Amino acid sequence: MTSIARQDPPGLAELFVFYAEAGAYDALTEEPVDRFAEGARLAQPAQPPAQDGARQSPVSEAAPSAPRTPFRDQQASPAPRPAATAAVPDEAQAALARELAANASTLDELRQHMAAFDGCNLKFTAKSMVFADGNPDGAVMLVGEAPGRDEDIEGLPFVGRSGQLLDRILSAIGLDRTSVYIANVIPWRPPGNRTPTPHETEICRPFIERQIELANPKLLVTLGGPSAKTLLNTTEGVLRLRGNWRSHTTKTGTVIPTMPTLHPAYLLRNPAHKKLAWRDFLEVKARLRSLT
Ligand code: URA
Repeated sequence: MTSIARQDPPGLAELFVFYAEAGAYDALTEEPVDRFAEGARLAQPAQPPAQDGARQSPVSEAAPSAPRTPFRDQQASPAPRPAATAAVPDEAQAALARELAANASTLDELRQHMAAFDGCNLKFTAKSMVFADGNPDGAVMLVGEAPGRDEDIEGLPFVGRSGQLLDRILSAIGLDRTSVYIANVIPWRPPGNRTPTPHETEICRPFIERQIELANPKLLVTLGGPSAKTLLNTTEGVLRLRGNWRSHTTKTGTVIPTMPTLHPAYLLRNPAHKKLAWRDFLEVKARLRSLT
């Protein structure tokens, strides 16, 4: 980060620290927005409405009634992104996602349908759609929660620190990205790595369900609580779920043995629990052997 010069407005350093701690590392627009100048403008007494049909100032044009957030503000300013208006998650969008997912007859088609889908607001703050990595013909499919910063930049799942740990775990049981297929419940990074809302998850659910159905793995591994809850339709916590085989049933009735385990990011924060994940992956290895 560039150093903060003395003449910068008071509070700027604290603002940057606040953004960094909230996980907001990336600019969403090419041009920075001067929030201090904007605050000063908004503090001025309101002008009477123009009587002559003249255009209102950009500030009053853009003034939304909803509370402002940095992300919403940045979407309202000129940006190279195609959609300036965030989609509102609702049942109609979930229905459209279900229809698009059902109409995809290959993984490539599914990827295209997802890329064309504008019904999830996360798409408008993410840099890329993170569809999958690895081998779609692999016997094992792993599903995480949602991309983080590194994944958003590279457009691939699990490439950051937690991905490196995942690769080491896979390698310890004789697997790698040529033999497993990896995806996420949500293909777009939530801003600041916030937890996806239940609405966002429900909107994206048909896509990951169809992705699993089309990949048709022999075994499924859910990484972390949100993935387990979504794919196993349960509200149980991951520490209770993990280590026990469950079933994921696809829309067309195929039952896929599923091992819920801990998320690699959680393991990085709680290294003492790595032994639990290790046990889970040994289960996966044993089950895989029994299938061949
Ligand atoms: N965490 C996830 O759940 N998925 C990723 O792709 C990266 C981090």
